Amino acid sequence: VVIQEDYRKMCKWAADYIAARIKAHGEDRPFVLGLPTGSSPIGVYQELVRQNRAGELSFANVVTFNMDEYLGLPQEHDQSYWYFMHNNFFNHLTDMKPENINILNGMTDDPEGECARYEAKIASYGGIDLFLGGIGVDGHIAFNEPYTSLASRTGVRDLTTDTRIVNSRFFGNDPGKVPAQALSVGVGTVTDSKEVLILINGHNKARALAATVEGGVSQKWTCSTLQMHNGAIIACDEAACGEL
Ligand code: GLP
Repeated sequence: VVIQEDYRKMCKWAADYIAARIKAHGEDRPFVLGLPTGSSPIGVYQELVRQNRAGELSFANVVTFNMDEYLGLPQEHDQSYWYFMHNNFFNHLTDMKPENINILNGMTDDPEGECARYEAKIASYGGIDLFLGGIGVDGHIAFNEPYTSLASRTGVRDLTTDTRIVNSRFFGNDPGKVPAQALSVGVGTVTDSKEVLILINGHNKARALAATVEGGVSQKWTCSTLQMHNGAIIACDEAACGEL
């Protein structure tokens, strides 16, 4: 658990960690990076973009896999995770190859097939080197809501009412406009990664942080599974530490 004073410092620490891993990686195969959406990673993306544009960090040998996508939102919808990732990150990088960006297709006619292909593509790269993530206030990783199996793989997920209410801030404060389902990597998909780096910031995540690192390992708080992972790092700010 890495505690930084505030959100900005947490993001700088996480971005530097990711950059160091990418730089230390050999050229013989791509560095495979798992990525999240949400407000938590925005500062990390800004810092990675800054380093890339300053010529300090290349993404030419990086392949990315995003965690999740709303089912039924087209790429151009301003709340799709495809749109978020391009708007906040990929479009600003100087040398990210579009063919190296992987995001689940929320408009697929075959959700199960789409998820199976995603898992197979991750496996074809030899797995994910580092999965960056955030968590929901209920401790969900990606869209693996409370009581999702800790061994789960990429698949279709129902969103809880709580999550739809929390995420409605991006949908005109109307939970009914938030898609009811998403495609999401599984908890097992995340924990198969060599390293997992989870960002937890702000007072509203204090209970989730305590459950993640001090509670029992339980599918009630899917993030708690990281206690069993040898390469898991929780990067947080002081505001999130109120319940520790
Ligand atoms: C969504 C995403 C999660 C993310 C969570 C928290 O539910 N599917 O991957 O961790 O939001 O978002 P925020 O960082 O905005 O609190």
